[in-house]
Amino acid sequence: MNTILTGDRPTGKLHLGHYVGSLQTRVQLQGDPTNQLYIMIADIQALTDHAKNSEIILPNVLEVALDYLSVGLNPNDSTLFIQSQIPELSELTMYFLNLVTVSRVKRNPTVKNEIKQKNFGESVPTGFFVYPISQAADITAFKANLVPVGDDQRPMIEQTQEIVHTFNTTYSEVLVEPKAILPPKGAGRLPGIDGNGKMSKSLDNGIYLSDSADVLQKKVMSMYTDPNHIHVEDPGQVEGNMVFTYLDVFGKDKTYIEQLKEQYQHGGLGDVKIKRYLMDVLEAELSPIRSRREKLAQDPQTVMDILQKGSEKAQKVAAQTLSEVKAAMGINYF
Ligand code: TRP
Repeated sequence: MNTILTGDRPTGKLHLGHYVGSLQTRVQLQGDPTNQLYIMIADIQALTDHAKNSEIILPNVLEVALDYLSVGLNPNDSTLFIQSQIPELSELTMYFLNLVTVSRVKRNPTVKNEIKQKNFGESVPTGFFVYPISQAADITAFKANLVPVGDDQRPMIEQTQEIVHTFNTTYSEVLVEPKAILPPKGAGRLPGIDGNGKMSKSLDNGIYLSDSADVLQKKVMSMYTDPNHIHVEDPGQVEGNMVFTYLDVFGKDKTYIEQLKEQYQHGGLGDVKIKRYLMDVLEAELSPIRSRREKLAQDPQTVMDILQKGSEKAQKVAAQTLSEVKAAMGINYF
C-alpha cells in the first residue's frame, strides 16, 4: 500500500516533456490498485512568484486539469485537487516554518537557481523563498510515502525528510518520511524542438498535449536536425538531431528507427522523410489524448466538479493529519 502525492504549478498547459517525464509514470502508478494517488494543482506555489499577475495562473488550473484527465488520470482512482482549497496545507506550513532555519532554506540549490533565472535581484518574495517548506506540508499532510518528481525536485524531498525527522523527534511520530520516485536516467529531460535545453514554456520550444494536428505538423517540420545535412545525399548527424531524439523516446519500431539512423548517417535520407515519420509516431500517441481533451474542454463545469470533489476528499485527509499534528504539539486546547 503506497500513498503517492505529486503535482504541478499551473503556469501553463502541459507539454510532451511533462508527458514523458511524469504524466506517464502517474498513469502507470494509478494502474496498481494498491496505490493511493493524490495529484495536486499547486496554485499557491505558482502564486509565490505571480502574486501580481495571477491572471496567468488561474486559467491554467482548468488547462492542467484537462491535461490530467486527457492522458488518463482517472478521478475514480486518483484524487485530483487544488492546493489553495485545502487550508490545512497553509496551517501545516506555518508550524513547519519554525523547524527550518533561514540558512537551510538559502542552501536549496533549486531555489537558488530559480532566484537567479527569475531575476528577482534583492526582491525575492518571502513566499517564494520558503516554498520548499510549503511543499513539505503538501506531502506530509497526506502521509505520502512516495513522491514522483523530476530531478530538480530532489532538494524538496530532502528538505521534507529533514522536516519529518525534526517533527517526529521533537514531538511524536506522526509524520511519514517520503521517498522520491525520480525519472529513469535520460528520461524526464526531453529537449525542446529547437534542441536548446529542455522543453519549456519560457523557451517557446514545446509541443503541447493540446496542440492541434496542424500545429504539431508545423512544429515537427521546424525541428532542429543537423544544420550540415543540406542535400539528401549528404551524410547526417543523429546525435543532437531532435527528430532522432524524439524517435528514440516515442518510436515503437526500434529496428526500423535503427535502419533510418544508419541510412541518415550514410547519406541518402532527407529530413522531410524522417520528419513525416516522426509526425506519424507523435500523431498516433497524441490524437487520442487530443480528442479526449477537446471533448472535456466543451464541459468545463464537469471538470471543475471533479476538482471540487477531489479537493473535498483531500481536505478531509489533511484535516485528520492536522489534528494529529496539533495533538502532538500540544496545541489541541479544546
Ligand atoms: N514544485 C513542483 C513543481 O514545480 C510542484 C509541487 C508543489 C509538488 N507541491 C508538490 C510536487 C508536492 C510534488 C510534491 O512542479
